[in-house]
Amino acid sequence: TIADLKGVKRGRLRIAAVTTTKYFMPRILGPFCAQYPGIDVALEVVNRDRLLERLGRNQDDVYIMGVPPEELDMECEPFMENPLVVLAPISHPLARRKRIPFADLANEPFLVRERGSGTRMTIEREFQERQAQLRIRMELGSNEAIKQAVAGGLGLALLSQSTLHPDPHREAVTVLDVQGFPIRRSWYVVRPRHKQMSVVARTFLDFLREHVRLLEPRH
Ligand code: PGA
Repeated sequence: TIADLKGVKRGRLRIAAVTTTKYFMPRILGPFCAQYPGIDVALEVVNRDRLLERLGRNQDDVYIMGVPPEELDMECEPFMENPLVVLAPISHPLARRKRIPFADLANEPFLVRERGSGTRMTIEREFQERQAQLRIRMELGSNEAIKQAVAGGLGLALLSQSTLHPDPHREAVTVLDVQGFPIRRSWYVVRPRHKQMSVVARTFLDFLREHVRLLEPRH
């Protein structure tokens, strides 16, 4: 139809995304904005708790997160893989080992995100499920700071693979070969089921479904 022609769609699109998506969301917006120059996009980048607050206040059109809320009145659509990996400094003794049992990680100091972060919630759940002790060495407010602290030898971390360069060694970190890892998860688009989607929000969802496979992280 004529409304689908390049540049015809107009309006404002408000996306709220958790901090861990900042490694790929802005890149997805490049081709999206090139295809739809009439759509004015605002991207809010906050941690999971702040995002849920925004969702509760109905502040945005689309919400992107890794650990969707459990409420039934939310539509949660997975759109991209989101593997969880164990990071260590390159020179760490575990870096040379294969098939490391998870229990061996219990002796290691860990660098974790602030409370309210989806990444923090995930690491606590993983240790709890395996009944292993999580030794927190330091709490840091961003994935980037955690990655740099791992490189600096402060400890290990569980992070989304999305935060890593395709060759992590270039950032002086390595992905450990831990049994059961990488944990396979997804990135989700979340929206209230009852909320009528705007034309621009629908356009963005269709774009994600169609184009995002190209940006899947490498394994
Ligand atoms: P975070 O969320 O950026 O708050 O850690 C990540 C996630 O939801 O997986």
